[in-house]
Amino acid sequence: MKIGTLGAGIVAQAVARHAIGHGHEVVLSNRRGPASLAGLVEGLGPLASAGTAEEAAAAELVLLAVNWTQVPDAVAGLPAFDGRIVIDATNQFTSLPPHAEIADLGELTGSEYIASLLPGARVVKAFNTLYGQYIAADPRHDAGRQILFLAGEDAAAKDIVGELTAGFGFAPVDVGGLRDGGRLMQLGGPLSGLHALRQD
Ligand SMILES: NC(=O)c1ccc[n+]([C@@H]2O[C@H](COP(=O)([O-])OP(=O)(O)OC[C@H]3O[C@@H](n4cnc5c(N)ncnc54)[C@H](OP(=O)(O)O)[C@@H]3O)[C@@H](O)[C@H]2O)c1
Repeated sequence: MKIGTLGAGIVAQAVARHAIGHGHEVVLSNRRGPASLAGLVEGLGPLASAGTAEEAAAAELVLLAVNWTQVPDAVAGLPAFDGRIVIDATNQFTSLPPHAEIADLGELTGSEYIASLLPGARVVKAFNTLYGQYIAADPRHDAGRQILFLAGEDAAAKDIVGELTAGFGFAPVDVGGLRDGGRLMQLGGPLSGLHALRQD
């Protein structure tokens, strides 16, 4: 599969390493442009490349991994997603810990808001509940596999993300749609920051 990343920081690099390790191609993009990613992609190997946001967003599956306040800029002007999948890994911090503030979207969940900015995308919320070091680590442990919660409206899209991430070694768990499941997963929800293993 060809995967594009919007953002090339902690989360995008962790997911890119899993994907490349399992034979997928990854196009990374950031705010500063492809030249700033030369060292990173060299380290990731031949399956990695640096691209513009448009190039990354043209991939079959796109990971959105920028800080919350940067989301509107990061997705502005991207062509329509035409049914392609976007994994939303964001958490809605408007300022980061230790002085964390969380965006208040009223009834909307963070991923519903993200979906509203990405016309035509099949949005699957994933990875946001885990700390970066648990996203980066090998999810396979003696006691079980790291649970990866997924939420989204489109069952087929969740199946594709589930299959991909199960291939990385995670244990995907579907928790519902972007409203109910998204609320469980977002900051303040009971699954946010929950690190659990599943034995199977
Ligand atoms: N870190 C964690 O433990 C963790 C865990 C789960 C979820 N999350 C969530 O995942 C998201 C990413 O977190 P992170 O820790 O990976 O962030 P990060 O390490 O700070 O990286 C952010 C990335 O976003 C890029 N970026 C910023 N503005 C952009 C724009 N307008 N267009 C394109 N790219 C842009 C940055 O590029 P430049 O370097 O060029 O500015 C950078 O590559 C956040 O929403 C965070 O809340 C984080």
